[in-house]
Amino acid sequence: MKGRFTPETVTLTLYGRDTSAYGVCWYTEDAGEPIVQYTCEDDVRFKNCVTLSAEVRDYGGRARNTAVLKDLEPGARYRWRVGDRCGVFSPSEVMTAIRDDGEELTFTVYSDSQDRAHFGKWLSAAWRDAKAHFPCTDLTIHGGDVVDSGTKHRLWERMMRHGRGLFSGTPVLPVTGNHDHFEEKDSVMHPYFNVTPPKDKPEPLMYYSADAGPVHFTMLCSGDYEYTERHGLKAEQIEWAKRDLASTDKPWKVVVIHTPFYSPGKYGSAERHQSQPVSLRAQLNEIFADAGVDLVISGHDHIFSESYPILRDGRADHDAEYIVKRVNGRFYRLAVRPEGPVHVLPGCAGNQNRPVECEMDAEKTGYFKDIVEIPTGCVSYVAVDVKGDLLTAEFVLVNAKSGERVITRRFGIQK
Ligand SMILES: [Fe+2]
Ligand SMILES: [Fe+2]
Repeated sequence: MKGRFTPETVTLTLYGRDTSAYGVCWYTEDAGEPIVQYTCEDDVRFKNCVTLSAEVRDYGGRARNTAVLKDLEPGARYRWRVGDRCGVFSPSEVMTAIRDDGEELTFTVYSDSQDRAHFGKWLSAAWRDAKAHFPCTDLTIHGGDVVDSGTKHRLWERMMRHGRGLFSGTPVLPVTGNHDHFEEKDSVMHPYFNVTPPKDKPEPLMYYSADAGPVHFTMLCSGDYEYTERHGLKAEQIEWAKRDLASTDKPWKVVVIHTPFYSPGKYGSAERHQSQPVSLRAQLNEIFADAGVDLVISGHDHIFSESYPILRDGRADHDAEYIVKRVNGRFYRLAVRPEGPVHVLPGCAGNQNRPVECEMDAEKTGYFKDIVEIPTGCVSYVAVDVKGDLLTAEFVLVNAKSGERVITRRFGIQK
């Protein structure tokens, strides 16, 4: 039975640029004496665990509890739980600390899990498929619109209860979607994830960066459009992105932002919604190409798409070279040494599928190498593996009720 100190919405994130530190966040009805415990995977009764006190503060009439797990051993498996000194705990979760050999990273990407009918059950269908097929996943990206109304705690509680392993079994790197913050201009996603904003960040909106294995992640907040009348980002965030991308020597760079620059859906292609994507292109294409960004991941349009490499001037590189390579028994179509980032939308991890609104004509203005509309009753995600000079990605469409795979598409980048 639920009590005053019963943990809800337990999440795990990377905490800053140090991959041995993990942020933990959860809510309780009242403020008590919150703790986090972690131990080795086999210590199921937590007899030899480490216990850390957590911080607690009021947020919207509930108690928001946060802690940071530090100095976890790369690649080691830990059993952990959150709770209260009075003896109430969350179910325990097993997580693997991110490998730190700098060589390889596997991450899965979900977006737009907002769903007022199934409240995370469909998201968990996609997650179960990913768990079965990509058991070595180091971390999870969420492209925003986790829930349909960010200020309603009940929606977060149900989403994270049904998607529990996804939000607390591997660290999540979230970006804020418009549904996560649309009722308040400041991000309301902060309260559900314990990520560290960068020290030089002047804005309350949630943008930050993280390093994992060979990849640097720059996580941008498209919520700026509330201030720019849907004309991209404010200057402060653009300057921060430039500094952040210049601050890393990781061989792979991935940018995540909720609203897309290049999308075949309504917000990327419909004439009436062009101000945001066209502004983002003008503001960031040069910066991304010059900084060597490899992949730009977005959501918002609830469709899967893979762009051609996008050149410095914003054109799709229709002359880019592609090869097919067999990796671990699977065939991938790879862009060879692209001269700009590939933009990818992972589809929809909730029940709000949307139609394609553009033509895919590479001879004219077509930006897309591949597009898949998400059929009703299906959810999708993208799994990415980065190793050496190879980035391989797999788009997976799953029947949300049966859990069966419907479509897979394999693509990637060869440096
Ligand atoms: Fe959405
Ligand atoms: Fe959205």
